[in-house]
Amino acid sequence: MPPDTEAKPAAPPAWRKPPPSPLLKGTAEKIISLRRWTPRLFSLRLTRPPAFRFQPGQFARLGVDGPGMGGLSSTIWRPYSMVSADYDEYLDFFSIQVPDGAFTSRLAKLSVGDTVYVEKTAYGYLTTSRFVGGNALWLLATGTGIAPFLSILQDPAVWAQYAHIVLAYSVREAADLAYRDDIAALPQHPLWAEHGHKLRFIPIVTRESVPGVLAQRLDAAIADGSLETAAQLALDDEARILICGNPQMLDDVRTALTARNLRPDLGRAPGHFATENYW
Ligand SMILES: Cc1cc2nc3c(=O)[nH]c(=O)nc-3n(C[C@H](O)[C@H](O)[C@H](O)COP(=O)(O)OP(=O)(O)OC[C@H]3O[C@@H](n4cnc5c(N)ncnc54)[C@H](O)[C@@H]3O)c2cc1C
Ligand SMILES: NC(=O)c1ccc[n+]([C@@H]2O[C@H](COP(=O)([O-])OP(=O)(O)OC[C@H]3O[C@@H](n4cnc5c(N)ncnc54)[C@H](OP(=O)(O)O)[C@@H]3O)[C@@H](O)[C@H]2O)c1
Repeated sequence: MPPDTEAKPAAPPAWRKPPPSPLLKGTAEKIISLRRWTPRLFSLRLTRPPAFRFQPGQFARLGVDGPGMGGLSSTIWRPYSMVSADYDEYLDFFSIQVPDGAFTSRLAKLSVGDTVYVEKTAYGYLTTSRFVGGNALWLLATGTGIAPFLSILQDPAVWAQYAHIVLAYSVREAADLAYRDDIAALPQHPLWAEHGHKLRFIPIVTRESVPGVLAQRLDAAIADGSLETAAQLALDDEARILICGNPQMLDDVRTALTARNLRPDLGRAPGHFATENYW
């Protein structure tokens, strides 16, 4: 055998290796439309990958390209809940714009026709399918945490299954109540209009006084009974509760629900409530 005299090309140093293609993880989708609610809240509609499947309440990772190290492009990924129905031909998302946020600073600069990557698999357990029994579905959100509940509320099976549906949506200022017209229109939707009367929508505005609108934080509104009064419904053993948004709110609401003898829903022990932490 001839001696191995030919020098092997040296591997490029790690910092010069191009990052993996985002197409290994996701599909490249286009922005169909954008909607700005406030200077820091906006929604985007994307084309839907034909093979993408999800359960209402789940999330997918979105990726956006931008400048990376060494002049190379890099993709940043973040989890986002689907807002649209699982049967829609597009995918809707609702986003905060965090000042100097690595992902949202890029996302907020995009226009119609630009590319956003959608990871091929959807994830998450903030779904009604996890619950056993119950006759009242309570959906408790702060800020953009409303997103998964908008998808759940477009599921005809959910409207048929529960006798009562409560949607409580807590924001700082009234202008932050995005989707309020869509929420107001939900009960008349032809797919579930016969059940439309089941929905109680409870907006909560905490940093502005709005006549007739609750001003207590969710945990306080549970503790002092004002949430139940507004819902005209008791938070009892029949309640099945999904909670989404601010992590501190999740802790405080968990404490308030536990004080009412309601239990977390765990794989090994069915219970009343489940949470999704956004940061
Ligand atoms: C399962 C899951 C689902 C999510 N779904 C959504 C969604 O549907 N819409 C959405 O806007 N975000 C959602 N998020 C949050 C999202 O993934 C990013 O955190 C957000 O896009 C900000 O990214 P960033 O890189 O700009 O800032 P980051 O560095 O990720 O966050 C910086 C800071 O901004 C604040 N922040 C982050 N996200 C939010 C938020 N949503 N609302 C208020 N303050 C926030 C927090 O203080 C955080 O520490 C979700 C997170 C998880 C874990
Ligand atoms: N102009 C701006 O640049 C601007 C304005 C607002 C927010 N922000 C930033 O945006 C981020 C998110 O703001 P956001 O308004 O979407 O979300 P947020 O701070 O989570 O507030 C949304 C709702 O959740 C409530 N909440 C917060 N903590 C809670 C807790 N522990 N228990 C119960 N309820 C609770 C808030 O009540 P409270 O009002 O009582 O907190 C509010 O009603 C913040 O990090 C903030 O710094 C920027």
